[in-house]
Amino acid sequence: MTTETDTTRLALRILQGTTLEDKLAAFDPALLVDGVPLPAVPPREPGRAPSLRIISQGERLPRPGQLTAAAARAECLHRFANHELQALELMAWAVLAFPAMPWSFRQGIMNNLHDEQRHFRLYLGRLAAHGLRFGDLACNGNFWAQAVRLGDPLAFLCAVGLTFETANLDFALLYRDAFRTAGAEAEASVMQRIHDDEVGHVAWSASWVRRLARPAETLLQAYQRVTPFPLGLHRAKGRNFVVSSRVRAGLEADFVEATRVARSPQEQHPRRGRPG
Ligand SMILES: [Fe+2]
Ligand SMILES: [Fe+2]
Repeated sequence: MTTETDTTRLALRILQGTTLEDKLAAFDPALLVDGVPLPAVPPREPGRAPSLRIISQGERLPRPGQLTAAAARAECLHRFANHELQALELMAWAVLAFPAMPWSFRQGIMNNLHDEQRHFRLYLGRLAAHGLRFGDLACNGNFWAQAVRLGDPLAFLCAVGLTFETANLDFALLYRDAFRTAGAEAEASVMQRIHDDEVGHVAWSASWVRRLARPAETLLQAYQRVTPFPLGLHRAKGRNFVVSSRVRAGLEADFVEATRVARSPQEQHPRRGRPG
């Protein structure tokens, strides 16, 4: 591919297009040019063909110990593929939603989006090896459910980069090990690759949060000020809390420690709101 690509048109196609061809539209990040900003706020839900429609919310992933069963591995791969799809759509949305941000911001998002497309394809390949196509199982909308709260670039960066992607540093390694234990080495190496890219995505988000934070505000303070409830540091991790990945992503020690000790509202107030 040698032609320049208009970023606005491309992001619109990825967000509003309904097919996997739209979501995986090929582009060279080095040949993107700044598009004309749109006058209207982009829709807060993605275009989806009927087979890709969001029809569920937040069922539990198969547990790592269940991956010895091929069906559980396939379900896991489908769920992870769905995370990548939502991530790349949310990134396309952010490119359109924040046209006043510097071009370098939107360019950085498009670089990350390009990685998410690659991750999505990697999962599609492993799904095919399990005899499944994407859309054969239900797609949930757990990331998109938060989009309504992402009103500004800082909230977007904290929710997507410093919450979902930071949690994926843990989940990618947890499930890498689980696939490996189950003898699924190809899947394990996909998880490792995605983890390694995710380190870069978290670092990129953190760098922009620092840049957009108030004077003298730390990364942690900015995160705590702007991250929309019910997201928060308790959602930015798995139970295998991996410090080294966070250090590689350049997260400050106080941010890492605050994440490590963070508890969900339910953990802090286990009885609140429960009848009886
Ligand atoms: Fe990804
Ligand atoms: Fe990512």
